[in-house]
Amino acid sequence: MAGEPGTGGVVVEARGLAKRFGRVTALEKVDLTIGPGIFGLLGPNGAGKTTLLRILATVLDPSEGTLAIAGHRLPRGKEAVRRLLGYVPQEFAVYRRLTGREFLDYVALLRGLEDPAVRRRRVQEVLERVNLLDAAHRLCGTYSGGMRRRLAVAQALLADPPFLVVDEPTAGLDPEEHLRFLDLLAELGRTRTIVFSTHVVADVAATCSRLAVLREGRLLFAGSAAELVSRVRGRVWEVRASETELQRLPGEMAVVKVRPAGAGVAARVVAGQNPGGLGVPAEPTLEDAYVGLVSGVLAEGEG
Ligand SMILES: Nc1ncnc2c1ncn2[C@@H]1O[C@H](COP(=O)(O)OP(=O)(O)OP(=O)(O)O)[C@@H](O)[C@H]1O
Ligand SMILES: [Mg+2]
Repeated sequence: MAGEPGTGGVVVEARGLAKRFGRVTALEKVDLTIGPGIFGLLGPNGAGKTTLLRILATVLDPSEGTLAIAGHRLPRGKEAVRRLLGYVPQEFAVYRRLTGREFLDYVALLRGLEDPAVRRRRVQEVLERVNLLDAAHRLCGTYSGGMRRRLAVAQALLADPPFLVVDEPTAGLDPEEHLRFLDLLAELGRTRTIVFSTHVVADVAATCSRLAVLREGRLLFAGSAAELVSRVRGRVWEVRASETELQRLPGEMAVVKVRPAGAGVAARVVAGQNPGGLGVPAEPTLEDAYVGLVSGVLAEGEG
């Protein structure tokens, strides 16, 4: 299980982390502790997920705050942290004129895997793990978006790092590769610390022991999925109404999803009170809780 001693997981301690780009505050006073296992980072576009992950991956220095990874204080411990780290950036450039296998071989060499036989074996292993063996001989320039994503993951696994930082790994994957990737993540997370960002709440629900939610650079929540879900208990409703009725419902609420039902719609909403008395209480999911939180219907810190 994740978190057991001796499994090689890395602990991340961030205190008061902030990042400004000129006048833009991308991250504001983030306090976060991340332990072994899989940690999910959720948040709308521009929330600061990539900024936070780049700081954890030592690519970016924070403007303020302190960060220690596996006991190494940054920026002093940068080199030590890099030896523990595999990083999959959101935008990943490949050498279009190398084949997938050549590219990985090259990256492995840069990572210090000098023995050609060891390198060949490692490259083969990671190609297998991300299911790219069949395309390994093709030029990277001919890869589809999803194949490039998987190549990006493969390069991060080359040195078998105990700490993985992965920015939107499932974006652009087809359903089959998406599932396969979640399995890989779960397997890797058993003996590692993995921090990954996503827009897919279900991926977090399926894989993460803990998660954080960012919005506009602020940390709105950090804890277990169950804790976040408990915050919306008693405030999730299924409402059947016409489109017009739905729009006119009184009170503050967040619409999680709407589907057509009969002549009108069935909407799943998060609201403090039963909206217009039309709602039927529903069992809350992580998605309800996430939508409620980022929409502001659940005030921060409310239990
Ligand atoms: N290099 C930069 N220069 C200026 N502003 C930046 C830079 N990088 C990020 N930002 C700004 O910081 C904020 C957070 O961006 P970030 O990329 O971290 O968000 P994100 O949560 O990863 O979004 P997405 O879901 O779209 O990937 C945004 O307002 C963005 O415009
Ligand atoms: Mg991003």
